[in-house]
Amino acid sequence: MTNSVLHMKADVEHPQTGIEDRKRLAGNLSALLADTYLLLVKTQGYHWNVVGPLFISLHRLTEEQYENLFEAADDLAERIRALGHPAPTSITEMIPLTVISEDTGSASAEEMVSNLIRDHEAIVRRLREGVEIAESLRDAVSADMLTERMRFHEQAIWMLRAVLSQ
Ligand SMILES: [Fe+2]
Repeated sequence: MTNSVLHMKADVEHPQTGIEDRKRLAGNLSALLADTYLLLVKTQGYHWNVVGPLFISLHRLTEEQYENLFEAADDLAERIRALGHPAPTSITEMIPLTVISEDTGSASAEEMVSNLIRDHEAIVRRLREGVEIAESLRDAVSADMLTERMRFHEQAIWMLRAVLSQ
């Protein structure tokens, strides 16, 4: 009984799905989860604090974007779990993993847009690496998920640029 339970536990932690080096992939996904979460926090902070002529457009756009980021964080974390690795559970754990810097200042609406564009660009570059890693490990599910994330971030960059050029 105990042995079979232990055996089942081992199977859960080490899924035999043909993906070599799941640890490397999980590490990359954890970094992308941290990027996604930190950008979510920044995007929502801007949603709350934006003022001036760009208020309506930026308030609405950031709401759409943080909702997307929230769902994406959940998908990324669940993919890490499906690969048999623990997902980060705190912002403290995410900070060393992310390329996104926190914003505790009082940025103007234009600065907010520029900061977000820079962050989305950084995430797209990281996603490109992630897709390459997933493909090299023949993990089509992660590669698909990350490609879809790239589509979102590239679209976000376009929309933010459009707001700035109003
Ligand atoms: Fe809101």
